[in-house]
Amino acid sequence: MLLLLLLTSAFALLPWAGAGRIIGGREAKRHSRPYMAYLIIQHGSENSTCGGFLIRPDTVLSAAHCADKKGIVNITVILGAHNINDQEQSQQRVLAKDWVIHPNYSPVGFKNDIMLVKLKRKAKINKYVRLISIPRRMGLVRKGAACEVAGWGMTSVTGHKTNVLREVALKVQNEAICQHLFHNYQRQSMICVGDASNKKATYHGDSGGPLVCNRKAYGIVSHGQKRRLFPEVSTRILFFEPWIRKQLKRFALQEVPGSPSFD
Ligand SMILES: *[C@@H]1O[C@H](CO)[C@@H](O)[C@H](O)[C@H]1NC(C)=O
Repeated sequence: MLLLLLLTSAFALLPWAGAGRIIGGREAKRHSRPYMAYLIIQHGSENSTCGGFLIRPDTVLSAAHCADKKGIVNITVILGAHNINDQEQSQQRVLAKDWVIHPNYSPVGFKNDIMLVKLKRKAKINKYVRLISIPRRMGLVRKGAACEVAGWGMTSVTGHKTNVLREVALKVQNEAICQHLFHNYQRQSMICVGDASNKKATYHGDSGGPLVCNRKAYGIVSHGQKRRLFPEVSTRILFFEPWIRKQLKRFALQEVPGSPSFD
């Protein structure tokens, strides 16, 4: 019996991560989420994809597990997209200059699942490409808060793929639910979210996208369980704000003249 429990929790830790799904959501209105980024991560001869979001004209926030594979050659960031397979006029394709995975990121339990991607050039901010704010101190998101997640991830557990951006509404859940199901759940640095009816969720391919509550990015889509849609875990951005601020300062020093400071 104990073994069975251990096995079950081992499965619980298996990621649909690396790849996150919008299940039970709907197609987003075109360009209604202009901060969304589509990341193509090239490792060896293979590509994997993730979501991300623009917080500075030259900086995208995403999940660390999107880039924890060996031999990553490059990350390409596509901004201003709706249908990722179309050559849309609105799209801007920018290569990453650098990416910084949180030094305490651990693939076991997805602790500190956060990464900053510095772009080779600043994105052109327009109708299709815009920044999203992250919360400042005291910007806590409470149980019951209504949030949304968008992504180009799978739309079913059987692996149906989507080319167009989809979105889904999820609620912030009682921490106890996640603490019970995820052994490595950390209140401070994670947010427990989901749809209790078990009909809506994110999935493979949505990882790295923002958990948007009250028009700010409070979380980063991180991980869930293999066999259940509810609940799931987001990285709590607020907890990492000092780290993000530090990286942005470092990036700003690196060059890219005139790059805006955090404030
Ligand atoms: C991987 O992505 C890059 C950048 O978009 C592209 O040039 C390349 O053809 C892709 N490779 C495969 C195997 O899909």
